[in-house]
Amino acid sequence: MSPFRLTRTLPEDATDAALRSDVRTGLTGTPKWLPPKWFYDARGSELFERITTLPEYYPTRAEREILVGRAGEIAAATGARTLVELGSGSSEKTRFLLDALTSLRVYVPVDVSESALTGAGRALAAERPGLSVHALIADFTAALELPDTPGPRLLAFLGGTIGNLLPGERAAFLASVRALLAPGDALLLGTDLVKDEEVLVRAYDDAAGVTAAFDKNVLAVVNRELDADFEPDAFDHVALWDAGREWIEMRLRSRTAQTVKVKALDLAVEFAAGEELRTEVSAKFRKEGVRGELAAAGLDLAHWWTDREGRFALSLSVVR
Ligand SMILES: C[S@@+](CC[C@H](N)C(=O)[O-])C[C@H]1O[C@@H](n2cnc3c(N)ncnc32)[C@H](O)[C@@H]1O
Repeated sequence: MSPFRLTRTLPEDATDAALRSDVRTGLTGTPKWLPPKWFYDARGSELFERITTLPEYYPTRAEREILVGRAGEIAAATGARTLVELGSGSSEKTRFLLDALTSLRVYVPVDVSESALTGAGRALAAERPGLSVHALIADFTAALELPDTPGPRLLAFLGGTIGNLLPGERAAFLASVRALLAPGDALLLGTDLVKDEEVLVRAYDDAAGVTAAFDKNVLAVVNRELDADFEPDAFDHVALWDAGREWIEMRLRSRTAQTVKVKALDLAVEFAAGEELRTEVSAKFRKEGVRGELAAAGLDLAHWWTDREGRFALSLSVVR
């Protein structure tokens, strides 16, 4: 069994303050919105894992196909001794990278979900003698401080999670990632690609209703953490393709006119019948757009790999 360490980079009261601030800002805004990071308590992380196995949710399978085919090339191009993974979740697909990176000494999964980090981190440390697992509970949109580990470092951001950031947030995020990398380090980025609207919408509105339950889980989090009285069944899950911005939006639509109380914030939130609360944006990308966003952060697109059907891409940038 290898060492497993779990570090909380933010005190719990900072997380609580961030949730309070996001809920107050989002629920008093027009239109109403909440940031997607609050989906991921233990139940949210579990629901996300179920989503990754749904027939409609192609991104996980497509990205896995690329990793299986390209992990050897990624290892050869990077020679990474440390793998840092942002938004690592269950680290399921990461196993293909861990298998291929023969020089790897340390794996640093970074996530807001303590349950996901503990489950995945302990399992990997138990399975892989010689690999230290140093998990970080942290928000990747805030200033990240990484542990002092051997280089070169490969920083992976998989799952298309970068699409959950708005364009301005993405630019700030990529600049902060670039600042973490030294010459010889690399960024491996997973991006879901623009495709047929029907395929996209189905991926975010599955027949079994798992994505709907995931979407509504944010209401359960606000109820529990901020003593609110959202009635999840009084909202419908909606997934829409915004062709102009090339992103999917997940929303919760109020079935009736209703008032929700958030007691910890002393807030009463009025919803009109049919009013929508935006819970997630999931941007879809094209190669030139990814190249441009990386370049704006000072990163060169060195490799671009897609699955056979061209649904999803992995790009690799090595810092010179
Ligand atoms: C879409 S899931 C992807 C999980 C995994 N990488 C995959 O490809 O299946 C997003 C992951 O990022 C985490 N996450 C979301 N927002 C975050 C944030 N601001 N900081 C750190 N982790 C975050 C979630 O807990 C979740 O594990």
